[in-house]
Amino acid sequence: MLRHINNNNKIVNLYRTVVKRNYSNSSTTPSPNLLKQTLQNKIVSKQKEMKDLRQTHSNYKIGDITIGSLLGGMRGNSLMYWDGTTLSPTEGIKFKGLTIEQCQDKLPNAKDVFGNISNNNNGKFFLPESMLWLLITGEIPTREQTLSVINLLNNILRQQNGELPPVTETIMNKLPADMHPMTQLSIGITSLSSQSKFSSLYSQGKLGKSEYWSSTFDDSMKLIANLPLLAGKIYSRLHQKKTGPQPLGSINYEMDWAYNISSMLGMTKDSQNIKGLTPKQQSDFVELMRLYTGIHVDHEGGNVSAHSTHLVGSTLADPFLSYSSGINGLAGPLHGLAAQEVVRFLFNLQKKLEKQQQKSNDALGDTDAAITKEIWRLLSNQQVIPGYGHAVLRIFDPRFDAMLNFVKQRPKEFQNDKHVNLMQNLSQIVPDILIKHGKCKNPYPNVDAASGILFYHYGITELMFFTVIFGCSRAIGPLTQLIWDRILGLPIERPKSIDMTTLKSMTK
Ligand SMILES: CC(C)(COP(=O)(O)OP(=O)(O)OC[C@H]1O[C@@H](n2cnc3c(N)ncnc32)[C@H](O)[C@@H]1OP(=O)(O)O)[C@@H](O)C(=O)NCCC(=O)NCCS
Repeated sequence: MLRHINNNNKIVNLYRTVVKRNYSNSSTTPSPNLLKQTLQNKIVSKQKEMKDLRQTHSNYKIGDITIGSLLGGMRGNSLMYWDGTTLSPTEGIKFKGLTIEQCQDKLPNAKDVFGNISNNNNGKFFLPESMLWLLITGEIPTREQTLSVINLLNNILRQQNGELPPVTETIMNKLPADMHPMTQLSIGITSLSSQSKFSSLYSQGKLGKSEYWSSTFDDSMKLIANLPLLAGKIYSRLHQKKTGPQPLGSINYEMDWAYNISSMLGMTKDSQNIKGLTPKQQSDFVELMRLYTGIHVDHEGGNVSAHSTHLVGSTLADPFLSYSSGINGLAGPLHGLAAQEVVRFLFNLQKKLEKQQQKSNDALGDTDAAITKEIWRLLSNQQVIPGYGHAVLRIFDPRFDAMLNFVKQRPKEFQNDKHVNLMQNLSQIVPDILIKHGKCKNPYPNVDAASGILFYHYGITELMFFTVIFGCSRAIGPLTQLIWDRILGLPIERPKSIDMTTLKSMTK
């Protein structure tokens, strides 16, 4: 049986003993401008670092490009600059050098920021706002700094009266309600472009190159702030027939971004609570949202959503246009849409297993054999097993582990959920089969193997919607990088392509 060995545990425990969080208990409201000011103070030294690297080491060779890699989706070629996160095939994602576990240990969470807000032992996962601070400044934020980011995002929404800008509201209301939620999200983000400070100043000829970053920062924060409203709008339209056109919840200016996403989906006490969750389940759902949106922010620069944002952003398209390109990439089934495919796959598989059990009147004992048979059938039909494999990772995805731990910490809540049980069962069975099959380079579950089915458990039963939540989270990494791209003056991205004749002639 395959076992996942987490090499980070020792390092993390060591960290825990030597690093203490440095929170003060000041009760003043931290300024929403703190993040931008802190970023501004870092610009000169980072620009110098980049200038020195360019001047001194431009000719340093960092790798070879082969015909295999060129025709193989540029796998293994380090070809772009990305500062927030790195992805190691054997260690997984690191955010400014910190593993997910280290981030959980060191970054402020809801308990740190708000105190004991629930009796449910929740509030333990770092807030996406503290991750945003880390990615932009490279520093672990204090409680006040995290609160200042919460204030920054909520202030933007306060200025909008907690509603989408009128242009976006009008456009969203005119879209067919059955249009795929990711298409709606892409259109919604694109429509926010009419609010862009960057493109307005640029088109008036008012922006010098050294000033690009400031309005890019403001636009990026506006985009991130509006995502709970956009996600809520899209989700409410899925429910319009039952609940009417009004929003499912409202923005709570005292609370964090993930809480407000949950509210706008109608899943908290500040909302219509459309799925009838108990107070404990509402609290757990917010906790899941904080976990999910915290760990999905970034996955180094080469993945399609991050890379598309960076590529389009390099043309000086505004952050809204740049990130909507990222969203279009995220909507592919090999990328973000995999979460929806996994749940469909789990349902079909569960139905098949139940039918077989009824037929043979068999006890559960033969389930593993039936799963194995079905996985082999799919593979021999040349289908992919959704939720398994990765272009870079060669281990169990640590984000999958984080989602699985969420389940393990709530045994009563999940014990009767047959699909969640099947998901766990598959993670023990599929890797061995994929290894025997011998094709895919990573036989282990990725984060999508677990994420969608957990949302489903709490009542987000519209599979097509899962990737919208991914799209909210993923905004944070690529937009942070876009701000830095503009600070560092990175040029328009323009790789060279090559045709078959030239490739063949090179080999002679
Ligand atoms: C993620 C993914 C797109 C990475 O693709 P990749 O880098 O090309 O993966 P590999 O190099 O391992 O692929 C080698 C072969 O294994 C196959 N393979 C990869 N993952 C597979 C899976 N989950 N099931 C079956 N076959 C798989 C590929 O299709 C490819 O087959 P081919 O040689 O006939 O074209 C791929 O693993 C996949 O399609 N997984 C399922 C979708 C998914 O879970 N996506 C979410 C990613 S976070």
